[in-house]
Amino acid sequence: MPSPGLERQTVTLDGKGDFGEWRDAARRLLVAGTLPTAVDWREKHGTTDLFADPVPAERKPEEAQRDITVPRAFMTLAETVICHSDPGRFGLLYRTLWRLQAERNLLDIVSDADVVRLNAMEKSVRRDSHKMKAFVRFKEIGADTPTTGAPATDVMEVIARPVSLEPGSMTIGRRRFFAWFEPDHFIVARVALFFQRRFTDMDWIIATPKGSAAWDGTTLTVTSEPADDPKLTDDADTLWRTYYSNIFNPARLKVKAMQSEMPKKYWKNLPEAELIPGLIAGAEEKVRAMAKQAMKDPPAFHAKVREAAMPKSEENTARPGTLDAARADARDCTRCPLYCKATQTVFGEGPDDAKVMFVGEQPGDQEDLAGRPFVGPAGKMFDTIAGEVDLDRKTAYVTNAVKHFKYEPRGKRRIHQKPNMGEIRACRWWLKLELDLIQPKLVVAMGATALTSVMDHAERLGDYRSRKVDLDDGRTLYTTVHPSYLLRIPDEGRKREEIDRFREDLKTIKTLSDKL
Ligand code: URA
Repeated sequence: MPSPGLERQTVTLDGKGDFGEWRDAARRLLVAGTLPTAVDWREKHGTTDLFADPVPAERKPEEAQRDITVPRAFMTLAETVICHSDPGRFGLLYRTLWRLQAERNLLDIVSDADVVRLNAMEKSVRRDSHKMKAFVRFKEIGADTPTTGAPATDVMEVIARPVSLEPGSMTIGRRRFFAWFEPDHFIVARVALFFQRRFTDMDWIIATPKGSAAWDGTTLTVTSEPADDPKLTDDADTLWRTYYSNIFNPARLKVKAMQSEMPKKYWKNLPEAELIPGLIAGAEEKVRAMAKQAMKDPPAFHAKVREAAMPKSEENTARPGTLDAARADARDCTRCPLYCKATQTVFGEGPDDAKVMFVGEQPGDQEDLAGRPFVGPAGKMFDTIAGEVDLDRKTAYVTNAVKHFKYEPRGKRRIHQKPNMGEIRACRWWLKLELDLIQPKLVVAMGATALTSVMDHAERLGDYRSRKVDLDDGRTLYTTVHPSYLLRIPDEGRKREEIDRFREDLKTIKTLSDKL
């Protein structure tokens, strides 16, 4: 006869996310002192297991004395983990509950194998719940499929309810919807409340192979019975596809991130998912078209702002004849609204007969305060690499496509923002003036904004990178990346590679400039 704690027990649970049934069984086992290794946890799988023992008997009077303590954190964790579909969850939870009686801080030991498994299960249930909230797609059950107006008492009954065309068979003024979803875990009951709050003014049914929920404006009904997919479609499918193809931004496409956000296993129930392969395949082409289009047609808003900010007699504005006069005039520049927030205009600097002109994007935080270009972190990166190839920055003219710092305040920080096409165009007046006054033979565009300004329309940096291009005005254009791009690369290996490429570019520029 084995000692009481070692006596084998079989516990059969419905096992569809009901925390109460596991909690009651676990409490009785613990009070009886049943070792975790002595318990066989089973799931009914929808049928009664005739051979399984019932849940352990009620505790005996002497057992009731046993002290049980359950930390609140465990209860919260267990309520989520119980929804997981792994049959091992019951035993794992019971073993953890058992261990907690002696190891009070067990849940804080995040490297403990049981805690690791529990946390992973909890995360998976939470993720599944989140995906259900995001990916349920309701289809309207139209006038040809009305049901009786009585509150639903059972979801399956509602789904199976025969069509009735009798007057008054629908809830007056309420539309009815149906959704099919396939969760990984038993999460319907925990997510149903979210849908009740969010879609309170319509009748709905969400059916899944792991239970279903229905709301009729009065009663929320949840069942754990599996349902079948009735494969409904409606006009909303087309709306979803239209919506998705419109919000899809090919310029921001990150396939891996997208597939992690919208894993493939959910695609078959998402009407818009059938568009994804085509959208990915055509993304690059679309980006090219967008870049060309954007340059041709700046948003009407930019034109309006520019017009409002522009001095009325722009055409008559006298063109300064020297670099000093240009620098002085630029101090009062109001050609675009960027002057409003910036500290000052940051004009170019360097010899007025420089053979090489470097063009950056716009002053950064430190340049805005100092009033000089490339004195902050990007400038330091530029100086360091230039020094390595004996390129003396002082012999070149260094300027920016846009002369005011564009930023967004965030707390005490000022976060750099890319200038838009309207701002680049407005400030091009100054860049052109600098080019006319200095007459450099070689213009170096550092980054896409500089390239756009020099070419006066958007071009892809990749098409020009490390290339010598003859411009219409007889000058040579050479294009490289912006030094601040190098500062932003998170991966150290890639950063080194990109710095090496930038160094090679500066070496070529040095060779070209020596020949001028
Ligand atoms: N980035 C630029 O493009 N120019 C500067 O002057 C500083 C940072």
